[in-house]
Amino acid sequence: MAAIPPILLVGMGKMGGAMIAGWRERGLAASVAVDPMRPAAPGPEVIVVASADEIPAGFKPAAVVLAVKPQNAAETLPLHARFGGSAVFLSIMAGKNLAGMAGLLGAGAAIVRAMPNTPAAVRQGITVACAGPGVTPAQKQLCDDLLAAIGKVAWVEDEGLIDPVTAVSGGGPAYVFLLAELLEKAAIEQGIPADLARLMARQTVSGSGALLAASTEDAAQLRVNVTSPKGTTERALAVLMEQAAWPDAISRAIAAATARSRELAG
Ligand SMILES: NC(=O)c1ccc[n+]([C@@H]2O[C@H](COP(=O)([O-])OP(=O)(O)OC[C@H]3O[C@@H](n4cnc5c(N)ncnc54)[C@H](OP(=O)(O)O)[C@@H]3O)[C@@H](O)[C@H]2O)c1
Repeated sequence: MAAIPPILLVGMGKMGGAMIAGWRERGLAASVAVDPMRPAAPGPEVIVVASADEIPAGFKPAAVVLAVKPQNAAETLPLHARFGGSAVFLSIMAGKNLAGMAGLLGAGAAIVRAMPNTPAAVRQGITVACAGPGVTPAQKQLCDDLLAAIGKVAWVEDEGLIDPVTAVSGGGPAYVFLLAELLEKAAIEQGIPADLARLMARQTVSGSGALLAASTEDAAQLRVNVTSPKGTTERALAVLMEQAAWPDAISRAIAAATARSRELAG
């Protein structure tokens, strides 16, 4: 028996595509994906259709995964409300809160709101999820299984925490990629050929991530391990760790993103 029961995936873009690939690795029962672009089916167990009207009659998903852009929610969600009798809705849409989705799916709908991130594409994501009222333990477990297929999963009771989660881990990969960009640029400024600068920056960021993942030590200790007294790294960190530099900049960036997530809520 497939580990993942029948799923209706609504929106097979970057995130939806990554999720369905993860489910297939775990064994996915016959499922349907809806996307107007009608991308190629990821495998024989998935039928891809262009609109809600084309979903085969009688298809009974255990979960409806909402992976469209938030701006498409108002037109899209009501088209799938009819599955609410038996299915749990799992939304990964940024800024769409449980109350707003219940307004589009029906007051009795069982809805889980989750915030993943793009390392989901290599099954290294982190998703933080919050279950709405009426979600049964079995439905919550199913959503956990669906999200665990793309990385780590954590649950919060307080939906308000999804705004800072969006700021920290939802957008976090962008900040790490910015670091890779800036390291590459600074290397070129110091005379390193562009190809080598790119290789060094990429491998430093990805290798440090792998070390962090493999280590039981805190990030702070791993940093100290690179920092010899009076050495070169210490000189660089003196610039980066000035209060107005990274400590304040990162705090302000996360606060700004959290505030923006609250503004978008609805
Ligand atoms: N990317 C991230 O870092 C990230 C992180 C966390 C959460 N999210 C959330 O994940 C969701 C998907 O993001 P994404 O980056 O995967 O976006 P995406 O690549 O644009 O994927 C969305 C897909 O949904 C399709 N679509 C539009 N209207 C539809 C409809 N009525 N029915 C079915 N499919 C429809 C889009 O087709 P068209 O291109 O034709 O519109 C597109 O293929 C968003 O809500 C976003 O907030 C994204």
